[in-house]
Amino acid sequence: MSYAIELRGITKRFPLVLANDNISMRVKWGSVHALVGENGAGKSTLMKIIYGMQPATSGEIWVDGKHVQMHDPRDAIRLGIGMVHQHFMLVEPLTVTENVILGAEPTLGTSINYATARKRVAELIKQFNFDLDPDDKIEDLPVGLQQKVEILKTLYRGARILILDEPTAVLTPGETKELFDFLKNNYAKSGNSVIFISHKLHEVLEISDEISVIRDGKMIGSIPTQGATPETIARMMVGRDVVLRVDKAPPRPGEVALEVRGVTVVGENKKNLVHNVSFNVRSGEIVGIAGVEGNGQSQLVEAITGLLRPTSGEIRYLGKALSRPDAAKVTAAGVSHIPEDRNERGLVLEMSTQENLILGEQRSKDFCGPLGLLKLDVIERNAHELAQKYDVRPRSASLPAGRYSGGNAQKLIVAREMRKNPKILVASQPTRGVDIGAIEFIHKQIVDARDQGLAVLLVSADLGEVMNLSDRILVMFEGEVVGEVSAAEATEERLGLMMAGVRPEAKTA
Ligand SMILES: Nc1ncnc2c1ncn2[C@@H]1O[C@H](COP(=O)(O)OP(=O)(O)O)[C@@H](O)[C@H]1O
Ligand SMILES: [Mg+2]
Repeated sequence: MSYAIELRGITKRFPLVLANDNISMRVKWGSVHALVGENGAGKSTLMKIIYGMQPATSGEIWVDGKHVQMHDPRDAIRLGIGMVHQHFMLVEPLTVTENVILGAEPTLGTSINYATARKRVAELIKQFNFDLDPDDKIEDLPVGLQQKVEILKTLYRGARILILDEPTAVLTPGETKELFDFLKNNYAKSGNSVIFISHKLHEVLEISDEISVIRDGKMIGSIPTQGATPETIARMMVGRDVVLRVDKAPPRPGEVALEVRGVTVVGENKKNLVHNVSFNVRSGEIVGIAGVEGNGQSQLVEAITGLLRPTSGEIRYLGKALSRPDAAKVTAAGVSHIPEDRNERGLVLEMSTQENLILGEQRSKDFCGPLGLLKLDVIERNAHELAQKYDVRPRSASLPAGRYSGGNAQKLIVAREMRKNPKILVASQPTRGVDIGAIEFIHKQIVDARDQGLAVLLVSADLGEVMNLSDRILVMFEGEVVGEVSAAEATEERLGLMMAGVRPEAKTA
C-alpha cells in the first residue's frame, strides 16, 4: 500500500538549531493526520520541506509511493500537495475567482479564460459546500471564508494532500466547526489526505484519525486518535506528565483588595463600552471574568490598571481610591498586570531579557542607585534568578525578548509582575498562544500566589481556563456583568448562555 506522504529521516539544520532531527512519518490516504508539538518543536519547518519551500538537509520525501525531489512549491503543487499558511496570501481588492486563479493562469495562449475559470471555481464551491460566491471580494469576507478561499486555491490546482498550519488560530468556534466538517466529512472522506497542525489537544482529538507528536525536532511517535486522551498526547508533547486540570485547595478569602463600584467607560461614539460594573475581589481568591472577546473586558481591565480613566464610577485598591490614577500610581498601589497583548504592552521586543524584567521599575531603588545609575550587576543577576525560577528557556539575560517563543515570553512577563510582590494581580488572557507546558506552569504560579493571599482578577476568553482557575466567575456581555456563579455552580452551558447575554434570572423566571 502506498502512503500519501512518507517522510524518511528528514533532518533540517539551521545555523543555530537542529529544527528537524531524523523525522520519519507516514500519512495515509483518506485520513486526517494531526501533527502536534509545542511552539518551536519543528512542525512548520517540516511542512515547509514537504511543500518545497525550503530544502531538507538530508532525508527523503515519498509522495504516493514515489521518491520525489522538491525544489520549490511548484513541484509540490504538481504532486498534488496544497498548503494553507497561518497568514493568508490573498489579494484583498480582488474577487474569489481572481485570487484562486492567480499564479495558475493557463500558460498556453495569451489571455486568461476568465469565464472558464469562474465556472470551475463555482463548481468547486458547490462540490465542497463552501459558503462562497466566485464574485465575492476578499476584503468583504470574514476570516473563516478567506481561509476557505485559500483552500479553494489548492483545490483548483488539484490538491489531494492538504497541509494546514495552525488553521484554527484565527477562527471562531463556529468557523472551526465548519472547517472540520469540510476536512473530515468531505475532503478526507473522498480519499484525500490532510495534515493538520495544532497544539490544541481537544481539536486534534476531534478532527484527526492519527496523531504524530514531535518534540525538540524529534519524532516522538504516531498513534491512532481512537483511544488517545489529552493526557497521553500532552505527555508525548512535553516529555512528562502534565496536569491539565488545575489542582487547588478551596480559597480562603480575606479582606476586599479590589473594589470596583459602578464603573462606566463611554467610548468614542458615545457607546458604553463598560456599563455600571461593580464587583469585589478579596485577597486569597481568584475571580474570573468570562465572556466573548470584545464585550468590554479590555476596557474594564484598562480602567482597573490605570491605562484609561473611567467615565464614572470608582475603583479602590486595598481600600484606597487614587486621585488622577495612572498606570504608575496603580502599580505603586500594589497592582501587577499581565496584559492581554504581550507584544504591545507586555514586552519591548528589541530590548534584552534583563531590561524587560525591570520594565517599569528602572527607577526603583532595587535597580537604580542614588545618582540615577542603573545597578547593572543587580539587573543581570535578577534576570538570571527569574529565568531560573520561572523556567524561561533559553536561559539568557541578554537575548532580545522578541526571540522567545510565546510560552517563554509570557513566563518573562509573569516573572516580572510577580517579583513586584503585588497585592492584586490583574491577569488578562495569561496563557493565550502559550504551549501546554507553560500553561500548566503559569496556572500553578497564579494559584500559589492566591494561596499566599494574592487577590487575582482573571480575564480570559478561554472558558476552560476561567472555569479551571476561578473561585467565582462573572460573565460580561455588552459591557455589563450579566451574572455571577461560584466555581462549583459553573457549567459550560450555564456560562455559555450568559455569554450570549441571557441573564440568569431570565432563565429561571
Ligand atoms: N529560517 C529559520 N532560520 C533559523 N531558525 C529557524 C528558521 N525557521 C525555524 N527556525 C527554528 O527552528 C525551530 C523550529 O521552528 P518551527 O518549525 O517554526 O516550530 P513550530 O512550527 O513547531 O512552532 C525553532 O527553534 C525555530 O526558531
Ligand atoms: Mg509553526
